Amino acid sequence: MTKTLVIVTHPNYQDSKINKRWVEELETQPDRFTVHHLYSTYPDTVIDVEREQKLVESHDNVVFQFPVYWFNCPPLLKQWLDEVLLYGWAYGSGGEAFKGKKVGLAVSMGSPAESYTPAGNQGYLVEEILRPFELLANHVESDYQPIFKFHSTENDPEATEDFQEAVDHSAESYMMHLSMYFSDAVAEDDAASDAEDGQG
Ligand SMILES: Cc1cc2nc3c(=O)[nH]c(=O)nc-3n(C[C@H](O)[C@H](O)[C@H](O)COP(=O)(O)O)c2cc1C
Repeated sequence: MTKTLVIVTHPNYQDSKINKRWVEELETQPDRFTVHHLYSTYPDTVIDVEREQKLVESHDNVVFQFPVYWFNCPPLLKQWLDEVLLYGWAYGSGGEAFKGKKVGLAVSMGSPAESYTPAGNQGYLVEEILRPFELLANHVESDYQPIFKFHSTENDPEATEDFQEAVDHSAESYMMHLSMYFSDAVAEDDAASDAEDGQG
């Protein structure tokens, strides 16, 4: 079974509703997911680079889960990327730590989905504002997966679902997303279709 490292970066986790609920769901499957909280692991923001590299090396896939803050990731994740993804380890000569691993994002946002469209308030798709992660994933030769996104309905008077119901529902959708893009089944299907391609 493939094991996925989920790096959770939330500067205010104690007040989180969405990311906390997602973590609850991930923790029901410890054989599939390792949940790693950056802010509680490094409250002084001094990152143990060797430890982080070993964690990545010991997993098949990596998901970065965070609330979108100012159209970006929270600062400790940016610091993690800057300090952990070193030349010779993540990229460059001999840098193959991410090569072939599936990498993806799971993000929550306060603005509604329709605002992240060309005609919406933000004017850009979530995939566009978070493009640096795709570039990074490509640069380290990983296999970038579709983004799992959830737009909070907490302040949406037109929301059809109760907020807590919507969050619970999102946790289920998140698990389905991870099964679809990060599980053995997909890897096995790929292998089967590669084998078929080889025969054809
Ligand atoms: C400092 C800050 C910046 C934020 N920036 C954005 C943003 O750029 N886009 C957006 O859609 N939501 C933004 N939000 C809303 C958060 O993304 C939202 O509250 C969070 O995803 C909810 O998840 P949680 O319940 O796990 O905290 C921001 C919130 C804070 C506190």
